[in-house]
Amino acid sequence: MTAKNYDIKDINLADKGRLRMDWAAKEMPVLKLIEERFSEERPLEGVRIAACLHVTSETANLMKTLKAGGADVVLTASNPLSTQDDIAAVLVRDYDIPVFAIKGEDNDTYYAHLRAALDHRPNITMDDGMDLVATLHKERPELLAGVMGGTEETTTGVIRLKAMAAQGDLKYPVIAVNDAMTKHLFDNRYGTGQSTMDGVIRATNVLIAGKTVVVAGYGWCSRGIAMRAHGLGANVIVTEVEPLKALEAAMDGFRVMPMLEAAKEGDIFISATGDLHVFDRHHFEVMKDGAMMANSGHFNVEINIPALEEMAVSVRKVREFVDEYTLADGRRLYILGEGRLINLAAAEGHPSAVMDMSFANQSLAAEYIKNHHQELENNVYSVPEHIDQNIARLKLAAMGIEIDTLTPEQEEYLRSWSHGT
Ligand code: ADE
Repeated sequence: MTAKNYDIKDINLADKGRLRMDWAAKEMPVLKLIEERFSEERPLEGVRIAACLHVTSETANLMKTLKAGGADVVLTASNPLSTQDDIAAVLVRDYDIPVFAIKGEDNDTYYAHLRAALDHRPNITMDDGMDLVATLHKERPELLAGVMGGTEETTTGVIRLKAMAAQGDLKYPVIAVNDAMTKHLFDNRYGTGQSTMDGVIRATNVLIAGKTVVVAGYGWCSRGIAMRAHGLGANVIVTEVEPLKALEAAMDGFRVMPMLEAAKEGDIFISATGDLHVFDRHHFEVMKDGAMMANSGHFNVEINIPALEEMAVSVRKVREFVDEYTLADGRRLYILGEGRLINLAAAEGHPSAVMDMSFANQSLAAEYIKNHHQELENNVYSVPEHIDQNIARLKLAAMGIEIDTLTPEQEEYLRSWSHGT
């Protein structure tokens, strides 16, 4: 396949994309090391990879790394609103990588783009949210024979894949990149924490200090959001359904209460639960005039926007990423970024320094699949621990941080059971 076969907004945006891609690379030293090794060893020679990822400056550097390793890559967006059009352009112009992604594309175009990526007949799928894997299984089963395996980037995708495997429907092995420690402890927590607040602020320019921010969920993403909202001076309320997580939130110093209570108090509501209708009709009924809602979960189902549309007497766009819904009683509620991933819709996604580790995992997981797919069942696998540990080691080295090693005496102590009181 050649890069003539692509669908992007405007190839003339490539100069801007070039600058942004290089800027991101400066913060991605681990990926750079992998790219250098890949260039010499070419471990992915001839492997066709279809990647369905947010088309960002960080993803561009991942695509460059895979290509350096010899892979034949194609890229499609993993969300209709997350594409950076200048990045799509530079990948086509400077790397001859076919890209199918336009920011703001409608759902039909989004799926047409996934299908175009599947026409590449991938040996490896690299997914973020599992839409590519689902489309391949449902619409292109004849491709399954050529697939060695896949990788999955995000919590939501891993949950869907595990459900698929449990039902016996998953027809090739997939590595859950999300579950690597060097991914979710950093990308989900610090990446989502910072980029979500960045998205809310860029969309609205509101002062966070002194506001009541309601964070739905207390998984790795939500706890990052709660932490950063608190750091900006917000009063943070956390809502949860799992007792352990609720307890952690309470002992981390946040107020914890049911959403219906929180709904009356919040100025800004942010969801990252992975489930639907977290903010629903009965919550809208009690929210304050001016309340804003944003979502940082993978799919745009966490805010029940159709219900809000039904309740509204008028809707208008008041800023680029802010829609105002006026209700019959005069209250105005605001939806940011159409309820899609606010960090990618209104901002630039996670900072490059965390994507460095996520995409180091993606690259090494792809290499692992190439080398080990024959030993794997049609199931969901963790990133091998030695890869995870090695990425942590490389990241520390890149950050100029040295750590201690155990003395032989300490190692012996840990191995034995005979030393007691
Ligand atoms: N997911 C969240 N932030 C991202 C980024 N910067 N690039 C690719 N995927 C992302």
